[in-house]
Amino acid sequence: MTRYQSVWRATGPTTAYPPLTTDEGVDVVVVGGGITGLTTALFLQAEGARVALVERDHLCAGTTGGTTGKVTSQHGVIYRELVARHGSRRAGLYAVANQWAVETVADLTQRLAPEASMRAPAYVYTTREEGRADLEEECRTAAKLGLPASLVVGDDLPFSRFPALRFTDQLLIHPVDYGYALAAALVEEGGKIYEGTPAFRVEEGSGEARVRTASGTLTAGHVVVATLLPIVDMGGFFAKSAPVRAYGVAARLHGAAPEGMYISLDSPTRSVRPWGTDGIVVVGESHRTGDDERSHPARWEELEQWSRDNFEVASFEYRWSAQDFSTVDSLPYVGRSPRRRRTYVATGFNKWGLSNGTVAGSILADLIAGRESRWLPAFDATRLPDLAGVRNLVGHNLEVGRELVSGTVARLRAAGPEDLAPGEGGMVSVDGATVGAYRDPDGGLHSVSLTCTHMGCTVRWNQAEASWDCPCHGSRFGPDGSVLAGPAVHPLERRPIDSD
Ligand code: FES
Repeated sequence: MTRYQSVWRATGPTTAYPPLTTDEGVDVVVVGGGITGLTTALFLQAEGARVALVERDHLCAGTTGGTTGKVTSQHGVIYRELVARHGSRRAGLYAVANQWAVETVADLTQRLAPEASMRAPAYVYTTREEGRADLEEECRTAAKLGLPASLVVGDDLPFSRFPALRFTDQLLIHPVDYGYALAAALVEEGGKIYEGTPAFRVEEGSGEARVRTASGTLTAGHVVVATLLPIVDMGGFFAKSAPVRAYGVAARLHGAAPEGMYISLDSPTRSVRPWGTDGIVVVGESHRTGDDERSHPARWEELEQWSRDNFEVASFEYRWSAQDFSTVDSLPYVGRSPRRRRTYVATGFNKWGLSNGTVAGSILADLIAGRESRWLPAFDATRLPDLAGVRNLVGHNLEVGRELVSGTVARLRAAGPEDLAPGEGGMVSVDGATVGAYRDPDGGLHSVSLTCTHMGCTVRWNQAEASWDCPCHGSRFGPDGSVLAGPAVHPLERRPIDSD
């Protein structure tokens, strides 16, 4: 039977670290226990810093645990665009930094979790004649930037008879095994990890910064906010990034899995990798978070149908989804947070967080140690968007404005709670007020305010994952209003319905 859980979380370790229970002082506090937070913490500790990491949920419970597990400098076809928008120097820095990340993760897995990784080539493929020229041009650009790119044809390539763009010697990992191996190495050398410890605020005072949580305050010289989208935002990152959800399935095959990792040039995007010797992971069907028309189990059905069309599928084992943020100028934001002296951020990885998060760890460790970072010019969190970025920024924020209005209109169309079948959720109207309600499989009704606690947009029901998702900046909440993903740090207000 298919399980609704990321294949990596389901098959990864279940180690638990304790929550914070008292105030503490360290050199650096890292907020967020995904790839970026863990890597940054480990790099800083190697510099001799005393580090504490706090995580709202479990380590790798968020995007890191829901990725494809590809660590590669091949980010679809991105390099032509990066050169055109940012010039060869910055595009080259991005390319070389991400290729450095492949080798760095390979070294770390070799040392800490040898079973958690495997070298493999990465391919972009097309099924259209028109795609051939795009791949040729991308190949020339990527090779010029120093990446191991070539065009290949051959019978062993699945999916297509057209040439594919290959990057040699990339890396596949089990991201949760890897994350927990980083955590174990951190703790072994004296670092602290606190799970189940949501951070609410980051304050800066004279000579120190403080991270406030419900169960204690951590004081440090520096704070790294590695929470996918920063929970403290002095840099307007929520206005410069768009939240996107993607879906994943893991299947067992009759026969052997393909050896490489693959992503389609053509739409709809399909990203594929082997899972063991006889399984595959397929990811795709992305849409903007909070799109209640698309947040539907049909997304997984599309991926499963595609898998059946291309492989001899024996069984589908897992279904899940994950979130990331795309930025208005296609580069991540990493570095010191604008208008802060002791707070650092890393966000906007455009779905390539395993390599970009590793690069972010290097940049942040350099900056906190007082060194220049060679990669910073391509990632600098304080940069202004280019002209095309400004246009995207305006479009994105018009979209947010539209959401504020359309959310109000949607509330007017709400039905009564009696219309909700078990397992269904949505906006309902009760005594002239509109609330969000979910009827659980046993018939119980859970109802909450529809107003997102981040900046007041109207949350939308996600029928695929039984959650309330905010279309503006991607916060997500459970049916009971609890925070599943930031930037919101406070739950949705509960709005009990007297009778149904
Ligand atoms: Fe910003 Fe909801 S996430 S308003």
